[in-house]
Amino acid sequence: MPATPTTWSPSLKFLHWSLFVIIAAAVVCVVAAGGYERGDPVKGQLMFFHKSFGLTALALMIAWVATRLNTGRPQPVGQSWQLRLASTVHWAMVVLVLALPLAGLLMSQFAQQSVSFFGLFSIPVWLDEDKAAAKAIHTVHAGFAGPILVGLVVLHTVGALWHHFIDRDGTLARMLPGKDR
Ligand code: HEM
Ligand code: HEM
Repeated sequence: MPATPTTWSPSLKFLHWSLFVIIAAAVVCVVAAGGYERGDPVKGQLMFFHKSFGLTALALMIAWVATRLNTGRPQPVGQSWQLRLASTVHWAMVVLVLALPLAGLLMSQFAQQSVSFFGLFSIPVWLDEDKAAAKAIHTVHAGFAGPILVGLVVLHTVGALWHHFIDRDGTLARMLPGKDR
């Protein structure tokens, strides 16, 4: 384990805020896609971007985990219940951001749909069709895991703003880009 640093490393800050932007984009696309009928080309375009941003989130999260395990994090600030809650929410978000894209890919495999990454390359279908499995994964991905991640991000954001405006303890400030605090 690395020694406890006093600040977030610039790469962890960069990966954290990139993950936020990319995950928000993936969610906005899929929610907007819900407003179009099946077969509508606009829905297809929005899902193309949902999947591409989702795969980007997977790559960024793998990089985040590798960096985090190598560089550690500054001492968390707050009461013990806050630290326990924050840590549970953090690791649940990490697991979901790894699991959601993998589930999305598996769902596409069973539905016999290749997945394009921003039109640069495609992940081909290599598994046999299994409509029941695709439907079950869809239920877990779109009905539970996706909405749970969105809820955790909201809770996490409320926590960050609580630290900033109520506890006034510098937790949000030290995650912001710029000079190390
Ligand atoms: C971090 C990455 C991802 C997140 C946070 C995420 C989140 C979500 C959410 C919240 C929904 C439900 C939307 C709604 O019903 O309004 C959804 C649906 C879906 N996602 Fe993802 N997803 C991610 C990655 C992926 C990937 C990589 C793929 C495919 C390769 C994928 C394929 C789908 C599909 C096919 C649906 C169903 C859309 C529909 O019912 O019309 N997702 N996703
Ligand atoms: C998809 C969106 C987000 C994800 C997946 C995410 C994920 C994470 C994770 C996993 C950590 C824990 C780091 C660790 O323990 O090593 C963290 C820390 C943090 N996040 Fe987020 N985050 C997101 C959005 C946000 C937003 C919108 C804000 C602020 C408004 C925010 C503020 C913070 C702060 C201040 C910390 C540092 C906490 C500390 O120093 O104890 N995050 N985030």
